[in-house]
Amino acid sequence: MAEVVIVGSTDDAGELAADAIQSLVAAKADAVLGLATGSTPLTTWRALAARHLDLSRVRGFALDEYVGLPAAHPESYRSVIAREVVEPLGLTPALVRVPADRGPIETAGADYERAILAAGGIDLQILGIGRTGHIGFNEPGSSFASLTRVKTLTQQTRIDNARFFDSVEDVPMHCITQGLGTIMRARHLVLLAFGEEKADAVAGAVEGPVTSSVPGSAIQLHQKVTVIVDEAAAAMLRFADYYRYAWNNRLAWEKL
Ligand code: F6R
Repeated sequence: MAEVVIVGSTDDAGELAADAIQSLVAAKADAVLGLATGSTPLTTWRALAARHLDLSRVRGFALDEYVGLPAAHPESYRSVIAREVVEPLGLTPALVRVPADRGPIETAGADYERAILAAGGIDLQILGIGRTGHIGFNEPGSSFASLTRVKTLTQQTRIDNARFFDSVEDVPMHCITQGLGTIMRARHLVLLAFGEEKADAVAGAVEGPVTSSVPGSAIQLHQKVTVIVDEAAAAMLRFADYYRYAWNNRLAWEKL
């Protein structure tokens, strides 16, 4: 079962996720991180940047990328990862990849999978979750075995991401995303979610039936998952009291 940690603020969540990354990198300086974009991981990147760690050997693979935006567009995930992650954390740009950053889109998925395998796999995957229950851009119906490939975004996701663009029409319709199978191969999943609009997706992912209709529910089949949520995102969790109780009584040696 996922370890669920209910925190008082998004800053607290960022500190906890940063703790997990910091202890990984202390043990493995060239650790491989899976990198989510969007609003949710921002407090994690901020907390990590404030620690001034040497992350120059850390390798990174972004979860996803829009298809159809020029790479230099400020909202391409290549630009977002450079601006919000690589620069503030002091990562080495050549060690961080985004899907479809090299070569044609037709072969980009297989190429990305090969690169992840060649890096030895992802040690820690930071995840957000969409209101549709997507992780990465694996929208409802995505196969649990799926690998990096091109997908069509739901209209709901385009509406949700329109805040980064001038209008919803400007949000690309297609993306390339690590698959659920790719995500499941990562050794540790850290899923963050904040706000009441995520409560339904969080409850479905953590406690609902395991179904491709709620792609985030795939995490229930993974052996090491940490879900970090604020009170609003935890509001529909049936076992919230138990999660609080377990966290407050965790053993001294237990780490995220
Ligand atoms: C982003 C990603 C998505 C987002 C999700 C939540 O790389 O893969 O799954 O994590 O759409 O987005 P925010 O954090 O903006 O609410």
